[in-house]
Amino acid sequence: MHARAVAATTTALLGALLLSPTSEVRAAGTHGRPSVVAHRAGAAYAPENTLPALDKAASLGFSWMENDVQRTKDGELVVIHDDSLRRTTDVERVFPGRAPWKVKDFTAAEIARLDAGSWFSPAYAGTRVPTLAQYMRRVERDHEKLLLEVKNPELYPGIERQTLKVLSDQGWLDHRHLADRLIVQSFSAGSVRTVHDLDPGITTALLGSPAVTDLPRCAGFADLINPSYGTLSAGYVSAVHAVRGPHGRPLKVFTWTIDDAARARTAAGYGVDGIITDKPDVVRTALTAA
Ligand code: G3P
Ligand code: CA
Repeated sequence: MHARAVAATTTALLGALLLSPTSEVRAAGTHGRPSVVAHRAGAAYAPENTLPALDKAASLGFSWMENDVQRTKDGELVVIHDDSLRRTTDVERVFPGRAPWKVKDFTAAEIARLDAGSWFSPAYAGTRVPTLAQYMRRVERDHEKLLLEVKNPELYPGIERQTLKVLSDQGWLDHRHLADRLIVQSFSAGSVRTVHDLDPGITTALLGSPAVTDLPRCAGFADLINPSYGTLSAGYVSAVHAVRGPHGRPLKVFTWTIDDAARARTAAGYGVDGIITDKPDVVRTALTAA
């Protein structure tokens, strides 16, 4: 092809990308191998949902991170999976009289005192529960992408708008980030719909396995359907792919949580677009060898 024609084609492609900010995310995994997503930033190798976990995943060469966002008593968004601080921090020792140690019953200052690393390994002593703002700055610094889960939204009215405010403040709702670095997901269809309505440019995912007959309704607000591996089949993946989402493209499928090679290869054989895993290196090796 003539050099000018190549340049014109390149310019057109770049233009299309800018005009269609979510195209790359929606295309993720469409061709070739599924995207590999580090569940809780790689829960097998570092304390889940922490900044050192992001660093560790980056050092292993992974770009897609998954996390869980909840809210403190005084309204700060924090990154933590359980609705209680008990399993992943030393809250029982620091605040012995505060059972059942719910995230929503502690202030951000109180949570900032907790050790969120020692339960995993002494090597991570002193690790903190990150605020979402701190987490986003580290994701940016580490050049990572984020599958952000709005966790337990029924406990935190308005958390969707608040999450988008933090993302916007951190520069994550511009075209560059929306193009290929952000997906927002939840088990709550209402929460996913709210995110889509607040900013239709965001790529969204519904966790779970809605009935095939319900997929067209879900496609009004979700670009991906993310089922657990236990509910997955080739037929279900095909049924999801057959429906077009809110941006006019076939719905995608990211499945979870797969930590062994055999299941990774099975899911890839079903045609999934992404695999969410505590052990991204195991999945990557399995898919590379397949
Ligand atoms: O991203 C999928 C997965 O994170 C959903 O389950 O309980 O680990 O948040 P859970
Ligand atoms: Ca999650």
